[in-house]
Amino acid sequence: MRIFRKTLVSFPLFIFLFLYESSTAQDTIRRGGFLRDGSTHKPLVSPQKTFELGFFSPGSSPGRYLGIWYGNIEDKAVVWVANRENPISDRSGVLTISNDGNLVLLNGQNITVWSSNITSTNNDNNRVGSILDTGNFELIEVSSERVIWESFNHPTDTFLPHMRVRVNPQTGDNLAFVSWRSENDPSPGNFSLGVDPSGAPEIVLWGRNNTRRWRSGQWNSAIFTGIPNMALLTNYLYGFKLSSPPDETGSVYFTYVPSDPSVLLRFKVLHNGTEEELRWNETSKRWTKFQAAPESECDKYNRCGSFGICDMRGDNGICSCVKGYEPVSLGNWSRGCRRRTPLRCERNVSNVGEDEFLTLKSVKLPDFETPEHSLADPEDCKDRCLKNCSCTAFTFVNGIGCMIWNQDLVDLQQFEAGGSSLHVRLADSEIGESKKTKIVVIVAVLVGVLLLGIFALLLWRCKRKKDVSGTYCGHDADTSVVVVDMTKAKDTTTAFTGSVDIMIEGKAVNTSELPVFCLKVIVKATNDFSRENELGRGGFGPVYKGVLEDGQEIAVKRLSGKSGQGVDEFKNEIILIAKLQHRNLVRLLGCCFEGEEKMLVYEYMPNKSLDFFIFDEMKQELVDWKLRFAIIEGIARGLLYLHRDSRLRIIHRDLKVSNVLLDGEMNPKISDFGMARIFGGNQNEANTVRVVGTYGYMSPEYAMEGLFSVKSDVYSFGVLLLEIISGKRNTSLRASEHGSLIGYAWFLYTHGRSEELVDPKIRATCNKREALRCIHVAMLCVQDSAAERPNMAAVLLMLESDTPTLPVPRQPTFTTSTRRNSMDVNFALDSSQQYIVSSNEITSTVVLGR
Ligand SMILES: *[C@@H]1O[C@H](CO)[C@@H](O)[C@H](O)[C@H]1NC(C)=O
Ligand SMILES: *[C@@H]1O[C@H](CO)[C@@H](O)[C@H](O)[C@H]1NC(C)=O
Ligand SMILES: *[C@@H]1O[C@H](CO)[C@@H](O)[C@H](O)[C@H]1NC(C)=O
Ligand SMILES: *[C@@H]1O[C@H](CO)[C@@H](O)[C@H](O)[C@H]1NC(C)=O
Ligand SMILES: *[C@@H]1O[C@H](CO)[C@@H](O)[C@H](O)[C@H]1NC(C)=O
Ligand SMILES: *[C@@H]1O[C@H](CO)[C@@H](O)[C@H](O)[C@H]1NC(C)=O
Ligand SMILES: *[C@@H]1O[C@H](CO)[C@@H](O)[C@H](O)[C@H]1NC(C)=O
Ligand SMILES: *[C@@H]1O[C@H](CO)[C@@H](O)[C@H](O)[C@H]1NC(C)=O
Ligand SMILES: *[C@@H]1O[C@H](CO)[C@@H](O)[C@H](O)[C@H]1NC(C)=O
Repeated sequence: MRIFRKTLVSFPLFIFLFLYESSTAQDTIRRGGFLRDGSTHKPLVSPQKTFELGFFSPGSSPGRYLGIWYGNIEDKAVVWVANRENPISDRSGVLTISNDGNLVLLNGQNITVWSSNITSTNNDNNRVGSILDTGNFELIEVSSERVIWESFNHPTDTFLPHMRVRVNPQTGDNLAFVSWRSENDPSPGNFSLGVDPSGAPEIVLWGRNNTRRWRSGQWNSAIFTGIPNMALLTNYLYGFKLSSPPDETGSVYFTYVPSDPSVLLRFKVLHNGTEEELRWNETSKRWTKFQAAPESECDKYNRCGSFGICDMRGDNGICSCVKGYEPVSLGNWSRGCRRRTPLRCERNVSNVGEDEFLTLKSVKLPDFETPEHSLADPEDCKDRCLKNCSCTAFTFVNGIGCMIWNQDLVDLQQFEAGGSSLHVRLADSEIGESKKTKIVVIVAVLVGVLLLGIFALLLWRCKRKKDVSGTYCGHDADTSVVVVDMTKAKDTTTAFTGSVDIMIEGKAVNTSELPVFCLKVIVKATNDFSRENELGRGGFGPVYKGVLEDGQEIAVKRLSGKSGQGVDEFKNEIILIAKLQHRNLVRLLGCCFEGEEKMLVYEYMPNKSLDFFIFDEMKQELVDWKLRFAIIEGIARGLLYLHRDSRLRIIHRDLKVSNVLLDGEMNPKISDFGMARIFGGNQNEANTVRVVGTYGYMSPEYAMEGLFSVKSDVYSFGVLLLEIISGKRNTSLRASEHGSLIGYAWFLYTHGRSEELVDPKIRATCNKREALRCIHVAMLCVQDSAAERPNMAAVLLMLESDTPTLPVPRQPTFTTSTRRNSMDVNFALDSSQQYIVSSNEITSTVVLGR
């Protein structure tokens, strides 16, 4: 604003300066310079015009405030206010740098209404104030370029990216965001948001008199445990992180950086006590709310009182007591619940058993734990709890460690999924009952499953007897889901004799029709299934190479009709794969059913499957890093298509190296959909009584509980990644000290030696950054908790973008031999082959696992 100072400029120079001033906005105020309010007021503008600093009046309020708002978007939301308590009543305000080097805001009477208020010992008062593209307003000492003061350290109600929310657990100092008093009044309101300095760090929203309104749940170094839908993808996009270890003053801070810098994101404490996450939508030109807290009734702090659990899906209202507890007062949940049976240590008698622990799953961990994070073992954690009579619960959380509660459990919430497990201490008589009922239930289930199995077997036998009739080409009587439209069958001498319309449970599925090959054609193409033409054996029968009359090469998967095994998988494969089209999925050309013969005809893959290359010492070198990375990306795309982009949502359930085929150009194609499952649009997890898949690739929740979701495929993909990178089979390391390839990879990863995992044959030529990123992503994919694994969209994003902020993986404990866990009992059944556990066996596995 030089023109206002220079009064003695000649006329042409004045014009020049005026034009200059109006065409380039300034981002800096210098010593002796002024930023004036008034009719010619022009705010300071950051270099990229992202933020502006100047004077404004909120809404209808007449008062003038100095503030920062967004620059080049339509809704210029205010993110910072300097003189929030002292508005200037007219347009006479001036911002300048005073003689002592402070930023000062003066009103028309030259009275300071706001100041940066730094007492400086240094005599160099030559300073400039600059508005940056992050929204930070900095006061910088010119000679040393030191930042003397910054608005990010004195926030108002908005948490911007790059801002550091500091907390000092020792001194209790914390930096909080304080709401406005009302929509048009920036003076401090009743609500604030900040990091809670007690226990494991968490974000807390406070109300009047420092009462808690909401909390995020403890930070576990990847997510806030109390925000179950803070999925890894969003976490990845926000790049939330807690600094660690504490700095020299003992402070730590939270910060976040969106991986896409063009996304405008802010967290704001509203005047009515709600915290909102807002994102700028460039299409609608509006700020859209992404999350708010508290959002549901159960998000409200301690809604159901001590030892009460809030569950939005509760049958009798949202509140209930933890098992073994009863309400203190009926109809007033704020008084919480109390224990029904005293603990052993409270009763001072010796004839009762040791106290037991009831495990609550998928809950928001209670507030105010006593930090015991150093303990490295869940068993120690439990012992520590049992030793102290005031201990009410404990848990062991990856990324935090042992957590113990020595007081009432407050702010417990039941989530639908996600969250953490909590072990609540109860007298043994309270647990005993539930153990008995559990056993009864399990026995009942076992008997039921057995009876059902026998019934199904009988039914199937009967059905088979009736089905021997249809033997002519193109018809299949046994596969009841596939109905052949015989009107389309014409000449049995051509390759195609007709087409099938696919039906699922009697309803035609809208798909392009699948050609039917006549058996004669296949016999001729494969030279009567000669041994030389056998390519290998899949799960349910041999696969042959064939050449059709027109020269097209095909692969024929033949299911021997006599065995009866695999019929379901076969049908499944037809139904699924006929509908899928993607360059990274193997293509089905048609099928053939005649009498007992059931065959699927695929495009031929001249380079066989990936395991022929990466596990073969002679060929490993042929697949260099560039090719391996391309293969990894291809598999990821194919899988993403299955999970998300195809019209059906499909879980493959048997992803492994031998199911990745390679075409002539070494493009990877996922094959073998025999075990895949279709998912409903909003169904996220399913339970199966029949666990099928390949050991070494099965995720813990699937192997143990038969639970499968897209995340089980992500787990298998993680294993696949490690195998492709290392050229070693996951199971090949089972006997060594690391238990498995995953254990070994984790060991190297945590010791900063990940490079050593890369196949020695290609190590010299590999792109180290890419390889390390792949290993990092693999470690994220093989985490024990399905919720923490990224989905395929996130995986692909992480693989292909070069952002430095990948989330920190947790130690995969599932395959290591170090854990004393019943998981290992089951998992020691080492087999790299197909493995099917019958329904009875899997039920007993579940019993073992609990
Ligand atoms: C405020 O101070 C400036 C110089 O620092 C002076 O020119 C101006 O007259 C003063 N205004 C009032 C109202 O005192
Ligand atoms: C400046 O700081 C001093 C003490 O550090 C304090 O007493 C005073 O109120 C502050 N002034 C302003 C305008 O914030
Ligand atoms: C803040 O809380 C007090 C009571 O503690 C209340 O009187 C006042 O109206 C509240 N202010 C706002 C802006 O809600
Ligand atoms: C808040 O605290 C003040 C004094 O500390 C007290 O007078 C007031 O009643 C409290 N308000 C509430 C809502 O608890
Ligand atoms: C606060 O205001 C926001 C937006 O106006 C609204 O969505 C939210 O429900 C309000 N919260 C409360 C507690 O009134
Ligand atoms: C932005 O707004 C448009 C129009 O309202 C909407 O269709 C789109 O989904 C929004 N984008 C995001 C990322 O929310
Ligand atoms: C519920 O209990 C709390 C705490 O004991 C008490 O302050 C409140 O008045 C009670 N409310 C009702 C409706 O009885
Ligand atoms: C527990 O029992 C011992 C001996 O039976 C007795 O000395 C002690 O006072 C009792 N403590 C409590 C809290 O009842
Ligand atoms: C049990 O926990 C309480 C509360 O933290 C503590 O004061 C007490 O010293 C502990 N007792 C033992 C024996 O550790």
